[in-house]
Amino acid sequence: MELKHAIYDRRATRAYSAEAVAQADLEALIDAAIQAPSANNLQPWAFCILRNSALLTRISEEAKALMLQSSPATVPSPHVEEMLGNPDYQIFYHAPALILICAVGDDSWSQIDCTLAAQNLMLAAHGTGLATCWIGFAQVWLETDEGRAALDLPANWKPVAPIIVGHPSGVTLPPSRHTPKLVWRD
Ligand SMILES: Cc1cc2nc3c(=O)[nH]c(=O)nc-3n(C[C@H](O)[C@H](O)[C@H](O)COP(=O)(O)O)c2cc1C
Repeated sequence: MELKHAIYDRRATRAYSAEAVAQADLEALIDAAIQAPSANNLQPWAFCILRNSALLTRISEEAKALMLQSSPATVPSPHVEEMLGNPDYQIFYHAPALILICAVGDDSWSQIDCTLAAQNLMLAAHGTGLATCWIGFAQVWLETDEGRAALDLPANWKPVAPIIVGHPSGVTLPPSRHTPKLVWRD
């Protein structure tokens, strides 16, 4: 796929078919992720891959409950609060896989490095016909002791980017972009 199409046509996708993502395809996405630049080439990332639908549903339930419990601090709007209160809303949109990119170690750039890896992963997925969505709703729960224990995360792995991956079902229309604020300092 041409780079321009990858950049312009990637979408945060919220509808997935039940088809599993092949192991080799997940490995290829991680390989694309680690091609990202990183400060001092520390490559401070690690990947936790979840494919257990029962666990994903459990995380969704617990993450929703935790966010609602700490609302409004962690819930941006009444619309989101209503969504999280809907028992039919699964924060992972029933995608077959979640790749959690974690920052490893305490380098001050590590979380930024992980977000660069995340963008690579999302573009690479789009390039192969897969779809993704970063799921920030999972973040607060992933940082809890319960969350870390459920995923058995090593102590020095910090969750940064929970990204669902799957085969898209249907078409996602592009949300419009605001005109960027620019200042030119010629
Ligand atoms: C840090 C971050 C957190 C996000 N969290 C969520 C989320 O929890 N649920 C969701 O449906 N989309 C989430 N998104 C997707 C955004 O809503 C989406 O990227 C935005 O609406 C623009 O759409 P596009 O990615 O298709 O251009 C998140 C995106 C980012 C970058």
